[in-house]
Amino acid sequence: MRRVLCLLVTVSALAGCSDYGDDPADTGPVDPPSETVSFATDVQPIFDNNCVGCHGDGGNAGLDLRSGLSYTNLVQNPSTESALARVEPDLPMQSWLYLKLTGQQNFGTEMPPGSLLDADTTDLVRTWIEEGALDN
Ligand code: HEC
Repeated sequence: MRRVLCLLVTVSALAGCSDYGDDPADTGPVDPPSETVSFATDVQPIFDNNCVGCHGDGGNAGLDLRSGLSYTNLVQNPSTESALARVEPDLPMQSWLYLKLTGQQNFGTEMPPGSLLDADTTDLVRTWIEEGALDN
């Protein structure tokens, strides 16, 4: 009987060991990337679908949002309408692009003119900026 009890204690102790895998602090050897939004796969398609008709070659306000050109046209590039940069990494409220996308600009119209994008879409842009406006 003593032997059986001993075995049970051993088994439950071993089962207890497997709980270590659920420890939230135990993320394993490789940390997952902290960015949740990709410029190439999440943000550029917003421009492709809504903006390049007016912001292509020789685009309005000197802004070219075509793939391959949009990133340098935006990030830490001065706005032609405001003292702000078009995109200031980490700071959506200091980014002219984000203010225009949410109708909070104090010059010209919201973007796209007359028909703001839905909040899920503008939130993606906001998160991308908050995550450092990476060329990812
Ligand atoms: C129908 C044409 C049209 C569309 C579509 C359009 N824009 Fe514009 N955009 C303009 C015009 C015209 C201006 C300059 C006048 C103004 O700001 O009101 C401008 C200015 C801007 C500026 C300011 C640039 C600077 O240097 O300050 C940003 C940022 C911008 N647009 C972003 C966008 C984005 C992002 C989209 C798509 C979601 C978009 N626009 C869609 C016509 C358009």
